[in-house]
Amino acid sequence: MEAIAKIIVVGNLKGGVGKSTLTSLYATYIHNVLKKKVIVIDADDLQHTIETIRKVEIEAGADSEKLYPVLPSNSIDAPDWLEKLIYDFDFIFIDLPGNLKQEGVVKSISMADIIIIPTSLSREDLDSTGKFLKILNEQIIPVRNSIGVNTDIYGILYKVRKRGKEYKEFIAEIEEMPIKFFNEVVPNSEVLKRQTSTYENVDYASKSFEMKDMLEEFKNIL
Ligand SMILES: Nc1ncnc2c1ncn2[C@@H]1O[C@H](COP(=O)(O)OP(=O)(O)OP(=O)(O)O)[C@@H](O)[C@H]1O
Ligand SMILES: [Mg+2]
Repeated sequence: MEAIAKIIVVGNLKGGVGKSTLTSLYATYIHNVLKKKVIVIDADDLQHTIETIRKVEIEAGADSEKLYPVLPSNSIDAPDWLEKLIYDFDFIFIDLPGNLKQEGVVKSISMADIIIIPTSLSREDLDSTGKFLKILNEQIIPVRNSIGVNTDIYGILYKVRKRGKEYKEFIAEIEEMPIKFFNEVVPNSEVLKRQTSTYENVDYASKSFEMKDMLEEFKNIL
């Protein structure tokens, strides 16, 4: 039997929580460090965040050897692309819009083997994360289970201060959470924001966060 790609979605209902940034970080890590074949389907056609950054990087002279492919598409076509590409890659990411009502978004998510949910600890983000999990558990996971495919779901705290009160309260209840969370917590950082790239992982470290540890945790869930 031919090996087929693992499909990964970094998703949440909420906008601006770091979905596209994490997708780029993980795809870059798979390409540069794990040396596996990876492609990103940029299915958020209103923004095409990853494709747009990639274009700028190419214009600025990015070394083509270092670039994994980024395919500009949309949520309606993404499921068909997945079927076409599944034998050609080890990993396929789909960067989706947050709006599950947009055609093709639920179908795309239902094809994911790994779902990573970034969230801050603001009430609004936690609310969206709860709603997203409810939709996954009611509409997506049962269908996947019925055809015998597994789905791994993880949360990752994003733009969160480890020294904040919210984090301490969250950690006190972590055992009660319905999903596992990454230990590493990504801070709200101007440096990280500035260093956003589709093809370079910057070896960023602060007192409370190390990029290499977060990427190591990611490797362990693959
Ligand atoms: N660690 C960080 N600290 C501060 N800002 C960040 C960080 N990571 C990403 N950002 C910025 O936050 C904004 C939103 O990030 P991103 O585009 O990854 O989120 P998204 O969930 O994909 O958003 P959308 O729902 O619009 O697709 C971007 O301007 C990005 O540069
Ligand atoms: Mg995005």
